Formats: sequence, C-alpha cells, structure tokens
Amino acid sequence: MKHSSQRLPFPMPGFTMAPRYSRDALVTVFHGDRLELFREIPSKEARLIVTSPPYNMGKKYERKSSLDDYLEGQRQTLTEATRILADDGSLCWQVGNHVEGTEVTPLDVLIFPICKGLGLRLRNRIVWHFEHGLHCSRRFSGRYETILWFSKGDQYIFNLDAVRIPQKYPGKKYFKGPKMGQYSCNPLGKNPGDLWIIPNVKHNHIEKTAHPCQFPVELIERLVLALTNPGDLVVDPYGGVGTTACAAVINKRRAAISDTVGDYLEIARERVELAALGRLQVRPKDRPVYKPDPRTAVARRPSELGAPRLLEM
Ligand SMILES: C[S@@+](CC[C@H](N)C(=O)[O-])C[C@H]1O[C@@H](n2cnc3c(N)ncnc32)[C@H](O)[C@@H]1O
Repeated sequence: MKHSSQRLPFPMPGFTMAPRYSRDALVTVFHGDRLELFREIPSKEARLIVTSPPYNMGKKYERKSSLDDYLEGQRQTLTEATRILADDGSLCWQVGNHVEGTEVTPLDVLIFPICKGLGLRLRNRIVWHFEHGLHCSRRFSGRYETILWFSKGDQYIFNLDAVRIPQKYPGKKYFKGPKMGQYSCNPLGKNPGDLWIIPNVKHNHIEKTAHPCQFPVELIERLVLALTNPGDLVVDPYGGVGTTACAAVINKRRAAISDTVGDYLEIARERVELAALGRLQVRPKDRPVYKPDPRTAVARRPSELGAPRLLEM
C-alpha cells in the first residue's frame, strides 16, 4: 500500500473527476453515505479531512434522531476519518449548535471527547465569526460557529507563511537596541489567529448556490493552504455542493467528497469544473468584510436609516 507521503504529480494529465475513489482521479464525487466513501480510501491516504456535518436539526438534507444516535453516527464518521488520515495529517470539524426547543447544545463540546478518545490532538478551536443569521428574541443571536482542528500526531503539516494576513503596522521598525532599524514584525504578514471573520454564504453572497448552508471557499482555503501541500488529498465526507473540493482544486490539491443528495453533487461537479478552469466565482480574500451601501446612503437620509446599514459583499 502506498503511503500518503508519496505525492501524486499535480496537475495530473487532463482533469479527471470520478464517481468512485481512485488515486488517478483529481476529484472524487461520491454519491452515497460517507462511510461507503471512506471504505474506498486506503488507510493514511488523506492529509486533511475537513467537513461540516449535519447538526441534527431536521434540515431538509438530514433525518433528525436522538442526540445519542446522532453522536454515535458522528463517532462512526470520526473513527473512519481517523483511519484514512495520514500520520502527519489534520482533521477539521466545523460545527455550530444543536437547538432543541429553546435549549442550545454546542456540538463541539460533544465532538471533542470523541476525537480525544480516537487519539487526535487538538491544535486550535477556531471561532468563525459572521454577521448574518437568525434573529433570536429570547437569547442573543448566534453569530459564530467553531472549527475543531486536530492533528493525528505531534508531527504535522503547518504552513503558516501560506496563510499570513497583513500586519496592522507593516512598516513598523525597532527604534532602539541591537535590532534598531529592522522590521519589528514579520514582513510576510501576521498569524491569522484563531478568530476568523469571514462572511457566511447568505443570499447576496457571490458563491451562493441552492444549498442552505455551504462553506465560504475562503474558510476552507485557509485550512487547505495551512494544513496540506500541493498534490495532497483533502476529504470532505459531508461534501454538499463541493466547496471543499473547489478549495482543494484551486490550490492544486486532490479531493474526495461524498453526499447523499444527488442534486447537491450535481452542483458540486459544475463548481469543481469551473474551479479547475479558474472560472469559479469566489469572494476575494482581500475584500473588506463590511462596506457601506452607497445606494442606501444616497437614497435615504441618515435619520431614516437608524443604525448605519452595512452590506456583506
Ligand atoms: C452542512 S452540509 C455541508 C455543506 C458543505 N460544507 C458545502 O459547502 O456545500 C451537510 C451535508 O451532509 C450531507 N449528508 C447528510 N447525511 C449524510 C451522509 N450520511 N453521508 C454523506 N453526506 C450526508 C447533506 O446532504 C448535506 O449536504
């Protein structure tokens, strides 16, 4: 069996997208249950497994079950994910809250002990903050979800330089001491930290598809760039409309995704093809999160607006 550290050439001759996992396919789009996809992937094959599982909220793509049954399903997914993960690979589980009636259960709190029991080691609990979502009247509106980033071992890929962001004061220099005159901060940029402010994909987002809760590409690109190398395999067992596969392809990685809903996978295939051609529309990373809506500002007086109205795009 080939070990995952043996890199496959990239880009591969011709773009290949396959319905079953094979090392020759740049992208595998598997229609079926995530455990069936895992069964096709040899042990230690993937450098990164990143996903957002269903939250057991009765959304149209999930069957609601008891929390215990849900967690048992997650344990099965995580067990197989750990098996296919390379020794220096990473697993990123993006979750929010399970809400039952008026009570909130943060899913990462329940996922953490499962991962710990599988021997995975937590590196960061990343808070993904966004501005748009349900407006709650009996509690504060939820405006973040989390990504639990685990590595399989203590030696793991972490390409920090690939994901640095602009420094607040890029030209700042030491003004005294032996380093006087030298830059006091890394000229390549700063560590993005563990609070990521990235707009979620709602109706006016350029990446929006028919899927009710797709990842923004930028969120996954940061993980792909930091936690894998070109040619590596990235797997998303709850692949939806293929955002993970797109982020992988844009950055010259391979991808394998599964989903039980054929309509989502049809969109995924189209998006992956556009990504491979460099034609997928994605929100630019350097676009500021908020900018005032000039049309609103001109059309109405500030007194009519109340608080300033801000646009996500
Ligand atoms: C939160 S969404 C993920 C969306 C994805 N991150 C994207 O950007 O499109 C969860 C997905 O899991 C899929 N799903 C639910 N049960 C599944 C199962 N047993 N195996 C594979 N996929 C499943 C759903 O159809 C849904 O598209």
